[in-house]
Amino acid sequence: MTDKLYIFDTTLRDGEQSPGASMTKEEKIRIAKALEKLRVDVIEAGFPIASPGDFEAVQAVANVIKDCTVCGLARALDADIDRAAEALKHAVSPRIHTFIATSPIHMEKKLRMTADQVLEQAVKAVKRARQYTDHVEFSAEDAGRSDLEFLCRVIEAVINAGAKVINIPDTVGYKMPDRFGKLIATLIERVPNSDQAIFSVHCHNDLGLAVANSLAGVMNGVRQVECTINGLGERAGNAALEEVVMAVRTRQDVFSCQTNIDTTQIVNCSRLVSNITGFPVQPNKAIVGANAFAHEAGIHQDGVLKHRQTYEIMKAEDVGWHANRMVLGKHSGRNAFRDRLQSLNIVLDSEELLNAAFARFKDIADKKHEIYDEDLQALVTDALSSEHEWLKLISLKVCSETGEMPQAQVTLSINGAEQSVGATGSGPVDATFKAIEALVNSNTTLLVYSVNNVTNGTDSQGEVGVRLKKEDKVVNGQGADTDIVIASAKAYLNALNKILTVTERRHPQIGKSG
Ligand code: KIV
Ligand code: ZN
Repeated sequence: MTDKLYIFDTTLRDGEQSPGASMTKEEKIRIAKALEKLRVDVIEAGFPIASPGDFEAVQAVANVIKDCTVCGLARALDADIDRAAEALKHAVSPRIHTFIATSPIHMEKKLRMTADQVLEQAVKAVKRARQYTDHVEFSAEDAGRSDLEFLCRVIEAVINAGAKVINIPDTVGYKMPDRFGKLIATLIERVPNSDQAIFSVHCHNDLGLAVANSLAGVMNGVRQVECTINGLGERAGNAALEEVVMAVRTRQDVFSCQTNIDTTQIVNCSRLVSNITGFPVQPNKAIVGANAFAHEAGIHQDGVLKHRQTYEIMKAEDVGWHANRMVLGKHSGRNAFRDRLQSLNIVLDSEELLNAAFARFKDIADKKHEIYDEDLQALVTDALSSEHEWLKLISLKVCSETGEMPQAQVTLSINGAEQSVGATGSGPVDATFKAIEALVNSNTTLLVYSVNNVTNGTDSQGEVGVRLKKEDKVVNGQGADTDIVIASAKAYLNALNKILTVTERRHPQIGKSG
């Protein structure tokens, strides 16, 4: 019999810490439902003390998710733990994840605490969390650079205090797989009560080793891996869930454990996360990149045609490529549309939202004859994000001509009042953004502008991502349309809707400059 390997997904917490990847409560719920369908064991939904928005998102995810454990992060502080417990109050299976740094550099320079104080606080935090739930996880932040003897003492003490999961993070992505594997084996061997907890790893990708380190952990006895969809996460990201899961599944000759993941949901989840965060998936990304199963070289194509396993170690359909690519078209009715959304695990909570999404579907189906799953995901994100927005695109007219300066005429609804303006720019998108700025005067800086085709062909929807910065705040906006200038305008407005404060919304600086 093989062991179970628990998959702890932290896309909604560590993943959200990627600059610009912040998600609304509704977006987090959509991703959480997709993760539930993917059958992850634990969803870390956020850091409840971090902000009221984070608290509400964790609470909302805890309320809707029934088949996974829902986890909230808390520093080893009473207020954090109490807040996490409050947010998780209605979860079917709640978990409090408390952490404190154990490396000399973090203890001395960041926490300004002695090792003994850290140990005492860790124990106190676990005991407090245990007053709320039996499911308490403890993380020794920067464990990868911590002193082994001290780490053993901390782990033994927190297990005695009631921690059921011990997480060993390589917080700064510094470890080499063989050494990280040895560290895990040594901890499990030396900590006298290690058999009373599940050991876990949480690896960052600063040296591109997050997945390798996580797998080294698994080979040496951990039975939980913390990871994110598409490897999203702080700085270079976390270990990519899809890579960890498929490595364990594909190399059952090496791993003596199995996950409970429904791998056919992987591509769907990847697309959804990319779609919502605006972080495109690189084409050569393992498992979920567009080229992950494409064979270009003639010799490879020939080999695959003769016998698939000559060049393929996994089946594309096992991770959700090509599966369920049912096509809808302009004659498809509301029921077919609703059914398809349901099978993609997209639940629209009200008839009003379903109507808005269906109207958008008909609109696209008029221009593009075949509507694929990717299109549906993009159009639903688009329809949901434009709901209740204070800035809306009413119309856009652009004129591009060889030898002439492109022009854009934009009409927006700003707090319900229509305003129009024209502008020129170096291209139609530039002219459109300038026109929008002439109306909104947002004082934001454009950090990233990207366009991706949702499906193949020139009739594809273009999915545009825009990242804006204002003071310390960075947000992403997304827009999709078969016309990429319109998609760009939508993405820009989506980002503005997120970044401008409530006060700025009430008093837009219409027409002012500077
Ligand atoms: O990277 C890290 O150490 C973390 C902990 C909070 C688990 O994210
Ligand atoms: Zn982390």
